[in-house]
Amino acid sequence: MAEAALTNSRIETEYRNRTKKSAQLYQEALELLPAGLTHDSRTLLPYAIYAKRANGPRKWDVDGNELVDYFGGHGALILGHCHPAIIEAVQRQITEGTHWGSSHELEVQWAGLIKRLVPCADRVRFTASGTEATHLAIRLMRAYTGKTKIVRFVGHFHGWHDQVAQGSTSHYDGGRPAGILPGIVDETILVSDDDLGPVTDVLTKRDDVAAVILEASGGSWGQVPLPPGFLKGLRALTTKHGVLLMFDEVVTGFRWSRGGAQQRYGVTPDMCSLAKIVAGGLPGGAVAGRADILDQIDPDRAKAAGREKIAHQGTFNANPLSAAAAIATLSIVEMQDVCATAEGTAEELRAGLRKILVEEGIPWGVYGEASSFLIFQNPKGVAIDPATFDPLALKFKGLKGAKDANLSHRLRISMIANGADFMGAPGGLVSAMHTSEEVARTLDAFRTSVRWMKAEGDIRG
Ligand SMILES: Cc1ncc(COP(=O)(O)O)c(C=O)c1O
Repeated sequence: MAEAALTNSRIETEYRNRTKKSAQLYQEALELLPAGLTHDSRTLLPYAIYAKRANGPRKWDVDGNELVDYFGGHGALILGHCHPAIIEAVQRQITEGTHWGSSHELEVQWAGLIKRLVPCADRVRFTASGTEATHLAIRLMRAYTGKTKIVRFVGHFHGWHDQVAQGSTSHYDGGRPAGILPGIVDETILVSDDDLGPVTDVLTKRDDVAAVILEASGGSWGQVPLPPGFLKGLRALTTKHGVLLMFDEVVTGFRWSRGGAQQRYGVTPDMCSLAKIVAGGLPGGAVAGRADILDQIDPDRAKAAGREKIAHQGTFNANPLSAAAAIATLSIVEMQDVCATAEGTAEELRAGLRKILVEEGIPWGVYGEASSFLIFQNPKGVAIDPATFDPLALKFKGLKGAKDANLSHRLRISMIANGADFMGAPGGLVSAMHTSEEVARTLDAFRTSVRWMKAEGDIRG
């Protein structure tokens, strides 16, 4: 079938015309992989691009399109793609062994870097992913307190394991997602983060809460920002009630600042989970936090404290390749303020995007903290001035709760057709390797994209 016959949309036609090999691969993948994908958040309509290689802030797809990349390895790449120090470390390591099945010097160096950088990190335990890190942290906190309930916030994402399933990407009313045991859902108390009222209420009325966990950026790397004073208030509240506080710093660690969101906001939790940047762009994660909580994993110290030893295994914990990449990355983070560099570029991008919305008369909003940027596409057509847009006014219900995935897909395929790859929010994460050149290219792509969307009736208001 001729491409033009598939759609009347210019946007879709431009996208399809540039991504023919990706379209073929997607057709093959549909017979092999559910939804043709390996990660839910790589969904894109009509189909996603297939990447081939990357360097610094850019990547190339199988059709040869060069794109400014804002996925950044789902946030794992604060130093962009293929940083020479990481390549050198991984190449050296691969010739010395990828898995010794032994303790090794690199894991000690790696943990030392985390301890120096992250305020709450008295002890570190490595895992193979962020999902594993939040899973382990929850087990440790329940065991430590002898209590079962975990308080979470609607729309905060902590990986895909059962304990954190409802209310993160669906079932915002706390309902039970298919495949999750009712007992597990019952042990989670899901509350709104619009203000401190609901969590205060829970902690005041109940004495069975082990811990409160949250993304300190606000849900989904800041798509729903927290009200001012929320973290400090939550720290005081949890301390008052003897409840543990855990920050999920899988995205914010080594990005919101060298010491993560906890350092940026000056609030130290009892525990945190780390992944993405912590492993230098290779697979890995970690739980870091108070020695008395993590030492439940240590049989002697657990015994001395009158506690049961908590089991924790994992074939790829602190694997040497990830450790080598991690040390290379975190050493640079420690020596140079790459977080500030990336944040400066993100601010330039946010300002540029905002200016285009104003100039083109589009009632969307641009926001985001540190090196993130987010675009609110205003699916319900509420009155918005892009020059003064304040996401806090919309809260969860108006932001993530109101999201129209199709509108996001439309912007993203337009952006790809014009040379930039955004994440689904829509938005993205900027690395320290992005420069004003990438910003300028992205802004050109954005102006063209919103004009196309306007012409096709995608923009309300
Ligand atoms: C805040 C947060 N926590 C946990 C996870 C899960 O990490 P992983 O994908 O490494 O399992 C993610 C992944 O995006 C995340 O954003």
